[in-house]
Amino acid sequence: MPAAEMSELLAAIAQRVGPAGLLTDPADTAAYAEDWRRLYQGRTQAVVRPANTAELAQVMALAAKARIAIVPQGGNTSMVGGAVPAEDGSQIVLSLARMRTIRAVDPVDMTMTLDAGVTLKAAQDAAAAAGCMLPLSISSEGTAQIGGVLATNAGGNNTVRYGNARDLVLGLEVVLADGAVWNGLRRLRKDNTGYCLRQLFVGAEGTLGIITAAVLKLVPRPREVAVALCAVASVEAALALFARFQAHDPAAIQAFEYMSGPGMGFVLRHIPGASLPLAAPADHYVLIELATPRPEAGLRASLEAVLGQAMEDGLVADAALAESEAQRAAIWRLREEHSEAQKREGASIKNDVSVPVSRVPELIARASAACLALLPGVRPVPFGHMGDGNIHFNLEQPPDMDGAAFLACDHEIMDAVNAVVRDLDGSFSAEHGVGRLKPYMMAEWRGGAELAMMQRIKAALDPAGLLNPGKVLP
Ligand code: MLT
Ligand code: ZN
Repeated sequence: MPAAEMSELLAAIAQRVGPAGLLTDPADTAAYAEDWRRLYQGRTQAVVRPANTAELAQVMALAAKARIAIVPQGGNTSMVGGAVPAEDGSQIVLSLARMRTIRAVDPVDMTMTLDAGVTLKAAQDAAAAAGCMLPLSISSEGTAQIGGVLATNAGGNNTVRYGNARDLVLGLEVVLADGAVWNGLRRLRKDNTGYCLRQLFVGAEGTLGIITAAVLKLVPRPREVAVALCAVASVEAALALFARFQAHDPAAIQAFEYMSGPGMGFVLRHIPGASLPLAAPADHYVLIELATPRPEAGLRASLEAVLGQAMEDGLVADAALAESEAQRAAIWRLREEHSEAQKREGASIKNDVSVPVSRVPELIARASAACLALLPGVRPVPFGHMGDGNIHFNLEQPPDMDGAAFLACDHEIMDAVNAVVRDLDGSFSAEHGVGRLKPYMMAEWRGGAELAMMQRIKAALDPAGLLNPGKVLP
């Protein structure tokens, strides 16, 4: 776009959003142009930060008229470059960060209605203050915002029990590519009236419309929570332990997470204050969280009984049960700092894949062998949401290799892992989405009628291709 037209557009936007709503100084916009993993260094001439839906709609109408592309951004915690603008400076970033009103929390309807810019943590806290629970938990919840969480259909630690972000949405407010506002903020448990439009926008990564507010389902707040960290004999033993908890009291499992020896080693080395509450380091770990809203359910005794038997049977070598809220948080921290610790250790390539839960051991064994054959010395760091079959099959650079040279192998490595995942009937992106990193995989994995339908939906809702271009679709 010629410079004169761009300054005309920015002047018009400034009129609608005021000085607090528009950043153009490169010193202010730089952080919005780069992703958390530093895989992409984009460039943008402006970051627009509307204060409310009406302002945002006006911005979208102006951008549509000027035919300028918009990159919506929440907490900018994408693992796949989903919220970064292109390098050529042609796209404007639309930040939802100033839209952070929690509009209502209703403990009778068990719903909350909130703006897209509220962080997931703030939403969880508001639900808890009303005696309920928002059962979505991800490592980046302190920074990630509701709009981004929904646009990417985030999964996380509690999917095993409550499903993904998609399963928690009752209503949405969305601003369309032309600036029209769709108010679909209904909070009904039953509403069978035509196409389910809200689910089109969930997981679309901002390519079909901008989510500006949502109604989310809440669940009863747990009365009892019991957490344990275990050293287990193998990935097979971890799976067998999951099966035992399922047989014992399936409704109580709130999280069942796997971690490997190398991943835990990075956390202990790089994260200040992290310490292992077990007698000795192990090759495989499991974090189990049981929770229930039922009074006097005796979860702690359940946990001890199942783990005690598993120790006798040689599945579990050692276990630490949290005795307090502080210990519970410390155990969770060992899991949640995995990504940060891996970043501090060096360059890493992420494969956010899923397979049927029963095939997780085979996934880890076969993908490790495939990557080591391709790049001897590479360090597999599998971890994640074993209870729902989503493993972050991440790889850390060989210690003696240059980080950039390692990252240049990303397609080769991802393709090798994906070949195993395909063989096991899995998915190449379980919870991080497609973003800018993985559109090239779409033709192979979702080609034919499926991709054609996606392209027709995109053309219908964003005919000029102005919404988050270069993301999701090839
Ligand atoms: C997590 O579950 O902590 C993240 O989704 C994992 C990652 O870094 O791949
Ligand atoms: Zn995850």
